[in-house]
Amino acid sequence: MTHKIAVIGGDGIGPEVTEQAQRVALAAAQRAGLSLDFEVFAYGADYYLEHGVGIEPGRFDDFRANYGAILFGAVGDQRVPDMAHGRQLLLGARFELDLFINLRPIKLFAPELCPLKGKGPDQVDMVIFRENTEGLYVGVGGQVRKGTKDEIATQSAVYTRKGTERIIRAAFEFARHNDRRSVCMTDKANAMRQGHELWQRTFREVASEYPEVEHFHLYVDVAAMEMVQNPERFDVVVTENLFGDILSDLGAGLQGGLGTAASGNIHPGRCSLFEPVHGSAPDLVGTGKANPMAAVLSSAMMLNHLGCPEAAQAIERAVIDQIAAGDTTVDLGGNLSCVEVGDRLLARVSR
Ligand code: NAD
Ligand code: IPM
Ligand code: MN
Repeated sequence: MTHKIAVIGGDGIGPEVTEQAQRVALAAAQRAGLSLDFEVFAYGADYYLEHGVGIEPGRFDDFRANYGAILFGAVGDQRVPDMAHGRQLLLGARFELDLFINLRPIKLFAPELCPLKGKGPDQVDMVIFRENTEGLYVGVGGQVRKGTKDEIATQSAVYTRKGTERIIRAAFEFARHNDRRSVCMTDKANAMRQGHELWQRTFREVASEYPEVEHFHLYVDVAAMEMVQNPERFDVVVTENLFGDILSDLGAGLQGGLGTAASGNIHPGRCSLFEPVHGSAPDLVGTGKANPMAAVLSSAMMLNHLGCPEAAQAIERAVIDQIAAGDTTVDLGGNLSCVEVGDRLLARVSR
């Protein structure tokens, strides 16, 4: 079985970490009897500056029809200060391919990486289901009297019943099929009465269909505090788009930083996009210090999505062993380069 994979390294450290993810994923897939056919696309700030668009019309249709998945690096370049290309490319993929689940596992791979006192891998293990197609990201709003002292800017959040229900249901389905005990929904219904009342009502209704899964609600401000003080309270977390963005970086902090935080932008059964949670990290470009593990773990999520959980598990085991051995980049306390970390992960999955 061969899967066509579109590879978009993007900007900054995106291409270098994605290259390591490709190597490791290819080896792990091969061992599991799956073959991957990578096709690299040069989208990113350079492409945008040359062509005036982040991605050409029709390409998302091509991805949807002909590719199993997209392996993505990062976007962000100071030559495009308004991130126009990133919105067309990354938010474009999320919206055009209807990748409504942004799955962001938070998992502590070694006790010494956790900044919290007295917390270890048993306490930091949760999965965030971030709604990925609605909320404040849809771009409804405007600016008037721009540049004057009477300027007005509006940005409206959009929540649909269908969109809210499908992400909440996805969280409960995941809990049911992965032996997760609870689902926490977090919102700001005390301040945002319209949109988040819809979330609350939908959550209660869907939860009633999953009696074996515990459910509870926290306002997002309290949830942020609780994730730090009592991370063990959380198992599956479901939330709207922007809150999921913020909480997933907080979660990355709990597992030792963005260097190991992976994600999938998923529509079950369709071409989906896998990327590290981190951005283009301009401060690391050219230093060789970028940790490729987040990208590598994202490729493991991709292999899982392609129906090859054994390859995904092999990659995760390799990462855990390698962190335990201290074969890491400097963010995790080691002194290896991005490529050296990739070399050793490759050796581990090929063993
Ligand atoms: P960032 O995630 O790029 O970096 C934040 C911090 O984490 C930096 O100190 C960086 O050095 C560190 N870091 C990030 N990735 C790392 C890795 N693999 N290994 C070790 N350390 C790592 O966030 P930022 O600096 O706020 O944003 C930079 C650019 O990236 C901006 O243009 C932003 O909009 C964009 N961005 C893109 C994405 C994405 O493509 N999905 C995500 C976040 C930010
Ligand atoms: C992420 C990023 C993006 C987001 C940005 C680059 C638009 O922060 O993938 O987490 O906010 O979703
Ligand atoms: Mn983010």
